[in-house]
Amino acid sequence: MASAPGGVTEVCTVDSLLQKAISAFEAKFGGKPSIAACAPGRVNLIGEHTDYNDGFVFPMALPMVTVVVGNKTSSGVCRVMTTADNVDEPRAVEFPLPSDASPLQPGKPSWSNYVKGVIAKFKGELVSFDAVIATSVPIGGGVSSSASVEVATYTFLEVLTGNTTGLKEKALACQKAEHDFAGMPCGIMDQFISTMGKEGHALLIDCRSMESKLVPLSDPSLVILVINSNVRHELTGSEYPTRRRQCYEAAEMLGKKSLRTATMQELNSIKGKLDEEIYRRARHVIGEIERTEEASAVLQSGDYRKFGELMVQSHQSLRDDYEVSCPELDELVDAAMQVDGVFGSRMTGGGFGGCTVTLLKKDAVPKVVEHVKAKYSGTATFYVTSASDGARPLQI
Ligand code: GLA
Repeated sequence: MASAPGGVTEVCTVDSLLQKAISAFEAKFGGKPSIAACAPGRVNLIGEHTDYNDGFVFPMALPMVTVVVGNKTSSGVCRVMTTADNVDEPRAVEFPLPSDASPLQPGKPSWSNYVKGVIAKFKGELVSFDAVIATSVPIGGGVSSSASVEVATYTFLEVLTGNTTGLKEKALACQKAEHDFAGMPCGIMDQFISTMGKEGHALLIDCRSMESKLVPLSDPSLVILVINSNVRHELTGSEYPTRRRQCYEAAEMLGKKSLRTATMQELNSIKGKLDEEIYRRARHVIGEIERTEEASAVLQSGDYRKFGELMVQSHQSLRDDYEVSCPELDELVDAAMQVDGVFGSRMTGGGFGGCTVTLLKKDAVPKVVEHVKAKYSGTATFYVTSASDGARPLQI
């Protein structure tokens, strides 16, 4: 990805990424690939750590995607290569097409587990294939690079085999792949939006009913700026399942199936019986579910100022109650909020590093980039993004 004037990183087009994947395929396997599919990363506008509590989330699909190109083979062996240059493991892997007698197991290289997991959870009969994966989604940046690989792989397999499935089933299969092959007990948000995103819209997802509602987000005077802190604290692995457990414990104490149906009043009524940390975790989740519903409504009515306020409240709650922010993300949010024309800013995704998301007036972008660069102790990367389409087959 090239750095464009003004310090903003230009997102490479799906077409140029596709060409890159095709060239890599030709160099590795010889011959042209005949099948291609892509799936996007996502940025969550608001509704963090609510998906595994049956709550609401409000993400949009990004213009950054993962592309998978390839061909059917008769070898009975799957050969897969990634073009990612920041993996410190082998970039190519091969394994026999799994069968009931010898199912796939996770292993090394770790990037291949997303592919293997999706093959293992695919609904339909498989054939062996050669494939190349290329991505423009920042890896490990908290914008769902892993979900984009899973959903792109699933979509590729659908075209390869002719077996298609419903979009919800597809998202659920990809989530299961992440649980069982990457060991990450994620919620459904990332795979859902990567499957169902729509250009010019954010998607309000009810993670309990799995129903969703498109909300227009295409005002040309507005920009969604994604700022990558370029830090990743190694806490994520253990902290995420801990947060999940704490939420379930709070729900149980409240006699609820999940925190979705709990109110702040109910939580406060058992405050004395709860561990203080668990109380704060639940307070975040209950407040965040409310904020997310409200945010989708105010966005629909064009009240960007209120939407921005809710974003900031979300960040503060994630920082103080849920404790999944970090100094670098706090610095980025604080700096962005100091500039005129910024409505709101918050950390996005699981936390402990990765990206922030900022809603601002388009003409304020240069000032924000300049100011954040000056204030931030690290080196940030800036992406001007717009709500984009979900997974789809591509023509070669
Ligand atoms: C990660 C998970 C999601 C969600 C977010 C936090 O991105 O994959 O399911 O829980 O964290 O909102």
